[in-house]
Amino acid sequence: MNAIKCIIAAGGLGTRLQGFRGNESTKILLKVNSKPMIVQQLEQLISWGLEEFIIITNPSFDSLIKHETSEMSKKYSIEFAIQSEQLGISHALKQAKSKVNHDDQVVFVLGDNFFGINPMQNINFEELVNSNKNSIIFTKEVPNPEEFGVAITDLNNKVIQIEEKPKNPKSNNAVVGLYIFDATCMEKIDELKPSNRGEYEITDLINLYIDEDRCTSVSLNSWWIDAGTPERILDLEEKLL
Ligand code: G1P
Repeated sequence: MNAIKCIIAAGGLGTRLQGFRGNESTKILLKVNSKPMIVQQLEQLISWGLEEFIIITNPSFDSLIKHETSEMSKKYSIEFAIQSEQLGISHALKQAKSKVNHDDQVVFVLGDNFFGINPMQNINFEELVNSNKNSIIFTKEVPNPEEFGVAITDLNNKVIQIEEKPKNPKSNNAVVGLYIFDATCMEKIDELKPSNRGEYEITDLINLYIDEDRCTSVSLNSWWIDAGTPERILDLEEKLL
């Protein structure tokens, strides 16, 4: 069986969390129920059965993140790659390119995204490798879709369109920060151009899969938190208890 490489985007600084509980570093090191967020994230992913991790870090916090995860590194395969410039989520993913083989499946998770139950529990990775549906996104109905990537799907859950933080969202289906890609995602990222805000957007990568008719969507039926603000951290702490 090909390897499932889980890539964790942990390079963002989390500007909306600067100063919260005296935090002056990166949100991924902020304590969530007394454990650094990156440790909580790894524990979540391990509980889903994932075993091989590549953590994308910010150069200023790379050694601190390595320190906080050193105990877990003794039991699990954890590698690191530095994102030296903050050029977006697809750019973060690309930093893992040399560690992904052409027949691996990539599970990409944004380090601050947490879920009630494993959204991938019904995904058969072996079937996925043999099929043509090599990208999967996960969506959740929300009242404020303009704050997220937004997907439009057909009745068979095929994704027809995805937009990053649209002013006039065409659906309420927010795209959560968990994605499954085949290894061609690494070459596809090279085709991307920076968006108006100067970032290589994850939604633009997904659009390349949509163009090839190779993107499906799974809707979540448990809670999801993108823990990017103080209120959401407090909510997450309660849910993780
Ligand atoms: C990012 C993605 C967005 C996605 C969201 C999920 O946005 O760009 O498509 O819906 O994560 O958490 P950010 O939270 O970085 O603004």
